[in-house]
Amino acid sequence: MIQIAIDGPSGAGKSTVAKALAKKLGIVYVDTGALYRTIGYAAVSRGISTKDAVAMQALLSDIQIDVKYEDGIQCVYLNGENLGDRIRRPEISMAASDVSAIPAVRAFLLDTQRDIARRNSVVMDGRDIGTVILPDADVKIFMVASAEARAARRTKELEEKGMPASYEDVLREMKERDAQDSGRAIAPAIPAPDAIHLDNSGMSVEESVQAVIDLIAPHLHKL
Ligand code: DC
Repeated sequence: MIQIAIDGPSGAGKSTVAKALAKKLGIVYVDTGALYRTIGYAAVSRGISTKDAVAMQALLSDIQIDVKYEDGIQCVYLNGENLGDRIRRPEISMAASDVSAIPAVRAFLLDTQRDIARRNSVVMDGRDIGTVILPDADVKIFMVASAEARAARRTKELEEKGMPASYEDVLREMKERDAQDSGRAIAPAIPAPDAIHLDNSGMSVEESVQAVIDLIAPHLHKL
């Protein structure tokens, strides 16, 4: 069994690289941001303020989140419904960032994440995987890229998903979210002391995947 943790800000290419890596190694890719997005979606769709810790606590007692793998793709179910790409909408990004700063939300999702890693070899991406969720992960990577490179990638991705947004709006929202995610009191998005930093600003997807493969090569015998 192997645990590979990939943390870093949004748009750094974590999910693209983690997905490609999981496929290559035949192990499970866990997108933890999707879990926070699902709770953010639940709050927004019920008109609950995503910064109201008391209201969010009440919401948590009323929802069930399940993670299933269908044809190797992670699907997150909210009260039995697969939300698909609805959790990728830009307003849900900010809602996810808001709810992820609430300790009860993080506690609610802790076991779900650890359980998957207990039962499977995983590449898990997020913000606190190396620091909180899997502190004993075999390899921890903190993946970064310049804000401009990240915003350009995210703009392209949103367009491909049929949810176009302007580069300027994406860049502004990304900077706001980075500040909120890395400055929060609980599980801030910062590298674990033993994480390896990888700046992929000038790299193609293939080069980023190769860079990560080189980093994990010494651990592959654990598979
Ligand atoms: O990776 P993403 O953009 O889908 O994540 C959405 C938000 O969820 C992000 O702004 C911060 C939060 N998040 C978190 O706090 N911890 C994680 N492990 C993953 C995401």
